[in-house]
Amino acid sequence: MSNSFFRKDGTAQGVAKQRLIETLAEPDKRIINDPFAGMFVVGASIIKLMGHKISVWLTNKFAPGFHEHLISRTRFIDDLVKQSAASCVEQYVILGAGYDLRAHRLELPPSLRVFEVDQIEVQTRKRQKLPKDLPNAENVVYVDVNFMHQSLAEQLLAAGFDENKATVFTLEGVSQYISKEALAKTVREVAMLTRKTRSIFFISYVDKCLKTRPKACFGKGYPKAEERAKAIMSLSEKVGEPWVSLYSAQEIETLLLESGLIVKENKTLADLNTIYFEPSGRALLEKQIIKLEHFVIAESHST
Ligand SMILES: C[S@@+](CC[C@H](N)C(=O)[O-])C[C@H]1O[C@@H](n2cnc3c(N)ncnc32)[C@H](O)[C@@H]1O
Repeated sequence: MSNSFFRKDGTAQGVAKQRLIETLAEPDKRIINDPFAGMFVVGASIIKLMGHKISVWLTNKFAPGFHEHLISRTRFIDDLVKQSAASCVEQYVILGAGYDLRAHRLELPPSLRVFEVDQIEVQTRKRQKLPKDLPNAENVVYVDVNFMHQSLAEQLLAAGFDENKATVFTLEGVSQYISKEALAKTVREVAMLTRKTRSIFFISYVDKCLKTRPKACFGKGYPKAEERAKAIMSLSEKVGEPWVSLYSAQEIETLLLESGLIVKENKTLADLNTIYFEPSGRALLEKQIIKLEHFVIAESHST
């Protein structure tokens, strides 16, 4: 696969593909619903023909629990954003949005302003593919930022971000693609932008144990953990977006705390399996659990 084929959106497509697969499940069994995901996925019509069960089976042949891992992350954030929007939060900033369609699929209140942030190449591609009659389109502002060499705060403020309004920020599946310096700068800017309000910051990060103790990143009895760890890492590398930054829980907690953000929750699929998959009769066994990525919710100090 050549990098030019994906033009920086290979991993964004990969996540959208899993959302498409989940959306094909029976409505009473699916964990999330993203009716727009197929628009961004090469080969979407083949996936639709195969349906949910075969597509999940194929995905999980690559790595058991891989589909559920990504879908539980999506659902965890869906719940956070809906809860935030139902309380006093007035702005939602999607950092590294890729083909995230939460702004249009979650029936968010029209009073919630949504800022979608991503690299200009991916954002332009997304906007070219979006249908004209999307729900809630008038509330979305697109902001192009490359976290590696641009200031998030400058770009957001120029786009109309209001520092006096409580905000939920989500950085989903992005921290592994940018340098540690770029993440630290971005987190500091989020903290600066939210210093006047009680705001929420979601971040996912890949556990550094994936390289040092791969078995610890999977449930007990997970088959070929070391091989799978390498295969998962090389998946993104093949589309030209290698995982360059992995973290320990302590590193993330310290980074957030130094910026004035306090960790409230730190979850993996091991926790979310019980909450989301068990009730719909799709609970994974311990040997199918992937816990290489953590889902963290932090809050700003201000009250
Ligand atoms: C795995 S995708 C996740 C997309 C989306 N958050 C989701 O979960 O569906 C990674 C995203 O990070 C974005 N990204 C990677 N490096 C970036 C950078 N330096 N600046 C801004 N965005 C970046 C990519 O463009 C892509 O949209």
